[in-house]
Amino acid sequence: MELSWFKKGTIYQIYPRSFNDSNNDGIGDLRGIIEKLDYLKSLHIDILWLSPIFSSPNDDNGYDISDYCAIMPEFGTMEDFDELLRETHQRGMRLVLDLVANHCSDEHVWFEEAKKSKNNPYRDYFHWRKPAQDGGPPNNWKSFFGGSAWEFDEASEEYYLHLFTKKQPDLNWENPKLRQEIYDAMRFWLDKGVDGFRMDVIPLISKREAYPDAPNVGFRKIIEDVYANGPKVHEYLNEMKREVVNHYDAFSLAEGVGINHETAGLYVDCDREELDMLYHFDILECTIVNGKFEEVSAFDLTNMKTIFKRWRDALHEKGWLANALGNHDFARMVSRFGNDTKYWSESAKMLLIMQATQNGTLNIYQGDEIGMTNIVLDSIEEVRDVQSLNFYNENLKTKRYSVNSALERINKEGRDNARTPLQWSDEINGGFSVGEPWLKVNANYKRINVKNQEQDKNSILNFYRRLLKTRKQYDVFVYGDFEELEFDNPNIYIYEKTYANEKIMVALNFSVGDIDFKGFSAISNIEIILNNYEELVINGDGMTLKPYQGIILKID
Ligand code: GLC
Ligand code: CA
Repeated sequence: MELSWFKKGTIYQIYPRSFNDSNNDGIGDLRGIIEKLDYLKSLHIDILWLSPIFSSPNDDNGYDISDYCAIMPEFGTMEDFDELLRETHQRGMRLVLDLVANHCSDEHVWFEEAKKSKNNPYRDYFHWRKPAQDGGPPNNWKSFFGGSAWEFDEASEEYYLHLFTKKQPDLNWENPKLRQEIYDAMRFWLDKGVDGFRMDVIPLISKREAYPDAPNVGFRKIIEDVYANGPKVHEYLNEMKREVVNHYDAFSLAEGVGINHETAGLYVDCDREELDMLYHFDILECTIVNGKFEEVSAFDLTNMKTIFKRWRDALHEKGWLANALGNHDFARMVSRFGNDTKYWSESAKMLLIMQATQNGTLNIYQGDEIGMTNIVLDSIEEVRDVQSLNFYNENLKTKRYSVNSALERINKEGRDNARTPLQWSDEINGGFSVGEPWLKVNANYKRINVKNQEQDKNSILNFYRRLLKTRKQYDVFVYGDFEELEFDNPNIYIYEKTYANEKIMVALNFSVGDIDFKGFSAISNIEIILNNYEELVINGDGMTLKPYQGIILKID
């Protein structure tokens, strides 16, 4: 099946809870999305990805599903969904849902049944183990969200595995019945006409059944070697592709947790028939040294260039990536990689230039199109994210960091940064809702909002529009071969890309100073395709890049 539509497309991720609230209960919803479809279309978006919209007790905001085929009542009804899908398609866009198949909610009927007895037919939908000799958990595995990955069930005196919160028991993919249940749920949505799935933590679905203790190495290494890439993961994914995805004009986008550039081909090489593309964590975690809230390093451009190059080389013609600089699990991209004060507008635009000219499907996250920034939460009472709360509570016990330092870490890296309500206007709560929003709105909404930026032709928003539109006209943005210049320069990122008879040069200044770049003489004819400044200073055989200036030139 020819599926190239997703390669050149731009994916826009919606975090429904924070996107737009149509009934003013403080929670974004499906009708809120419908109201904004024309806005999304005006951005030149091709594919909408919705974070989970299924029934859920919301321990992890929908990533804990209690019914895979029902809509979360707070978000609306199945009729609302059908209308959303229809209206999305009518505008020539596609809709992709979030499949959370590594675990479900402990309030899913499968788990409620499984807990009833060891003989319950659903028992084997989950991973149960006897306690260790001392009565403690079966091994030393840690949850991604802190604490042991095992929870004791008093009634049956066994532990169950949960790689995330204890309300997210891991599903047992060894059991063919469980796999069929997941495939049936996928078919339910695909039959309605959805265009694919983003697959949550999919590399974790096959467990090492001997449950070996994790070695004493960094958490990332443990994820790669112990939690992810289990012995049967490729068998399952291939089965899912053959039995389900191949029967529809649909694609899968994997969250590549635990996948590195060497193992990625095993998942996305199209000959293997597993997944269509993935986004990896090397860029998203490039400032996180040893797990969230622990050690952080300053942003290092050379490191970022190296990561881009490494993945490009590894997957050359053998697989496809989606490239993301932010999503609902990370702090805001302009605050992390750009400059969210003096050069806020320039750096937000420059980052988009970089992202949109890397090979792969462009994956942007809601609010980045207006340069939304990190938020400061003043006390732990304002924090909503379960990962941040768990970190905070565990820290109260270990006293590793002071209370203030723990909150500072949450403000710097916590997931709530990306989850604050979208800032539509300068009206109450940024126009998101007139009710009390479930998470605080960033106080800068009076300045940073869609309405303001609609009116300003030089806004970040209008720059996104120009760039996403332009990107459709050039294959070289998406498919081109790279040649890098000034690779070792830690302040600028310069590359030429060639595809068929298209050739572009991209020059990006990641610093707050002017930078002269020489080596321009080879270029005979230049035409500016996009520039985040009014001007480009060319002097002789080079150019001067202003702070956070970014340009795309067409060259001969
Ligand atoms: C993924 C999601 C994240 C969620 C976790 C558990 O990483 O993106 O938001 O908490 O999986 O489902
Ligand atoms: Ca609502």
